[in-house]
Amino acid sequence: MRTMIYPGTFDPLTNGHVDIARRAAALCDHLVIAVLNNSSKKTVFPASERADMVRCVLQDADNITVVAFSGLLVDLYQQMQASAVVRGLRSAADFQFEAQMAAANQIMLPDFETCLLPCRADLAFLSSSIVREVASYGGDFTGMVPAELVPRIRECFSKTRNNPSENGG
Ligand code: COA
Repeated sequence: MRTMIYPGTFDPLTNGHVDIARRAAALCDHLVIAVLNNSSKKTVFPASERADMVRCVLQDADNITVVAFSGLLVDLYQQMQASAVVRGLRSAADFQFEAQMAAANQIMLPDFETCLLPCRADLAFLSSSIVREVASYGGDFTGMVPAELVPRIRECFSKTRNNPSENGG
């Protein structure tokens, strides 16, 4: 049983993440999507909602499990008896960051393997912060995230616009 982990913050999940998740799921027996819940990274959506959005979009994939995790990725890796972590690559800047993380994780856990999947060219511009930025001004982000998430994201940001003190956490 080959288990791979796709970790990230997913604040919120974008079409770019979905592309990587589905392609990664085709490369292993079991893909664990690990939604980061570390207090050091401030997010708009709480971890439970981010994980729920991922589940809602990928529920048709029978070899994908979604978990929220806190702490170190190497600990989750051991707990899941994973064979590799998968990460999407959009640019050279992503590569630099990913190479650093891969090296740090490998120093902590020599068996740790990182698999980098180049993202689709038409999605290389995309990030969760672009979605958040467009949504925060009431703009059209419908081509950037799965259709089923649009109302949820819109509602969250319309609340924030109407009540600026209500800002996730
Ligand atoms: N499509 C769209 N956006 C993508 C993307 C893709 N294919 N790949 C990355 N991104 C974007 C994300 O949307 C996010 O955008 P934002 O910054 O605008 O919100 C950004 O790239 C980074 O996102 P993410 O993939 O969530 O990475 P991260 O830096 O938040 O988290 C972890 C990376 C979870 C793997 C890392 O922080 C971790 O392992 N944390 C656990 C603690 C730990 O072990 N630390 C030691 C590591 S050496």
